[in-house]
Amino acid sequence: MILPHSSSTPIAQQAMTQFANERFLTDSLTGLSQTPKRLPCKYFYDQRGSQLFDQICETDEYYLTRTETAIMQRYAGEMGECLGEGVMLIEFGSGSSIKTRYLLDHLIKPVAYVPVDISREHLHESADQISGDYPDIEVLPVCADFTKPFPLPNPKQRPSHDAVYFPGSTIGNFRPNQAKQLLASIAHMCGQKGGLLIGVDLRKDKAILERAYNDNQGVTAEFNLNLLHRLQKELGATIDVDAFEHHAFYNAELGRIEIYLRSRVDQTILLDGQTVQVEADELIHTEYSHKYTIDGFAEMAREVGWTLRRWWTDENQYFAVLHLVVL
Ligand code: AVJ
Repeated sequence: MILPHSSSTPIAQQAMTQFANERFLTDSLTGLSQTPKRLPCKYFYDQRGSQLFDQICETDEYYLTRTETAIMQRYAGEMGECLGEGVMLIEFGSGSSIKTRYLLDHLIKPVAYVPVDISREHLHESADQISGDYPDIEVLPVCADFTKPFPLPNPKQRPSHDAVYFPGSTIGNFRPNQAKQLLASIAHMCGQKGGLLIGVDLRKDKAILERAYNDNQGVTAEFNLNLLHRLQKELGATIDVDAFEHHAFYNAELGRIEIYLRSRVDQTILLDGQTVQVEADELIHTEYSHKYTIDGFAEMAREVGWTLRRWWTDENQYFAVLHLVVL
């Protein structure tokens, strides 16, 4: 695919953008040729998508972020003690790292902080800020897709152990099998004495869950539809975005929110010279958000080497932060 040349963009960055676009294209074409059709949720987060997600977090209905942040604020001291002295903290999907600061404030002689994020600009911007605010912690950002193996940086000081901080209930986006694989690779990466501090959204009343993914202002709908706007803008797809609507519901049997885009009409999507036929009322799957019980999550983690040490929750038990260790 040929992208328009821009003289203000350095060649290396241009090549990177082109590379990233190709992944987006092949992943989209692959997903749209499957039955049922799907688009990967990791592509929600371009600049506009990240803004919309921040806006979702501000809605009354979306309790997750504010609940997790309150848990961090309240219990970061205990968490810091649990994580132990001399840790190298590796954060998965660091984003803007607001919750991380509560933790960094309470770690005991931490050796290094390694934020890992797929979005390079976002990563370096927030790494610089953390670095400025925490001069005693070596900040070593890694631009990587944490679902694939990546090398860890070598800090100047030798850590006594590694721990992964994985907030935000991002683990919920993965199907249980994938989640388990990811937990296994985290255990492998941290090795002996390794730790994991992970944010998990808990199972609860269907109405509360469905409200969280169908906010009144329609921000979540915009967030979902943004994926189609990206296909248009970045991949030049021909697509009637206005004919699509957001559809999200709780599948209680499988303990997960399922999110789709539904076309109100028959339409043909044109993408990179290929046509994709979409029927009226057909659903394109975009995201799962799995909800767990503490026991269910601990059992899944136990099967790949983790032992649950402690966990913290809010007064409604809506959300939990779990500390697990490799023995
Ligand atoms: C960022 C993955 C935790 O699953 O709740 C919010 C994403 N999707 N509203 C979630 C999301 C729709 C969110 N996570």
